Amino acid sequence: MVPDSKPILEVQNLTRRFGGLLAINDFSFKVLPGTIHGLIGPNGAGKTTTFNVISGFYAPTSGQVLYEGENVSGRKTSALAELGLIRTFQGTTLFQEFSVLDNVRIGCHRSAKAGFLSRILGTDRDVESAATAKALEILEFFGLQDLTGEPTVNLPHGHQRALGMAVALAADPKLILLDEPFTGMNPEETGRMMELVRLVRDRGVTVMLVEHDMQAVMGLCETITVMNFGTLLTEGTPEQVRKDPVVIEAYLGSASHAA
Ligand SMILES: Nc1ncnc2c1ncn2[C@@H]1O[C@H](COP(=O)(O)OP(=O)(O)O)[C@@H](O)[C@H]1O
Ligand SMILES: [Mg+2]
Repeated sequence: MVPDSKPILEVQNLTRRFGGLLAINDFSFKVLPGTIHGLIGPNGAGKTTTFNVISGFYAPTSGQVLYEGENVSGRKTSALAELGLIRTFQGTTLFQEFSVLDNVRIGCHRSAKAGFLSRILGTDRDVESAATAKALEILEFFGLQDLTGEPTVNLPHGHQRALGMAVALAADPKLILLDEPFTGMNPEETGRMMELVRLVRDRGVTVMLVEHDMQAVMGLCETITVMNFGTLLTEGTPEQVRKDPVVIEAYLGSASHAA
């Protein structure tokens, strides 16, 4: 990480209302390129809504989102994906009856580079073979190369989630937003997924993740932004955040509310 490099993502004074409810309230933070950046906070803090606004599913009520220095507030998800801002979902969005390879090939086409490729390469068949080659390369990268012909439905949970990451990577992201990538995973799957997240980052992709698994968050992230009640509570390294009394208080407070 280059400490004074320009942020790839900058959220400035973001506010999002749902009727009378302030889901995000004057929330600001920055994400530096090449980092794994965590966003944590108690249930209902506004983490998923923040991802929804950054990725264009919801427009901000006020404030702005800068991506690579450009104000992209209110742009559509598809337009942001073309710029390399990709968001994955909690739970899987794979085509279960399709093969592993076909799921990643579809991801390659979704990258909106298909039109670009066909102009360069000419025929559809060339585009297909380029997509296949790229998909195979990504599957190998994720250690899924022996499963290419397998119907996706046959894959165990951990492999399905890895495949979800492979599909996201097929879209050539620069910034990937992962919402709870470790949910429902056993410790072995979590360990493997952590390795994959690091590999993706080492490939030059900036990763921002929302996650409840504190061990995973602390183990992966360089910087952690903590939100509560829709706004910034604190920010720092895993060490700083772990020891911060306001963070402990926020989690304990929310646990006692939940009880
Ligand atoms: N589409 C929506 N309509 C109304 N309220 C919403 C909507 N999405 C989220 N909220 C509310 O916004 C608050 C923040 O939710 P969310 O971003 O899902 O929190 P987190 O992901 O941190 O658990 C919650 O009170 C939630 O009920
Ligand atoms: Mg959430």
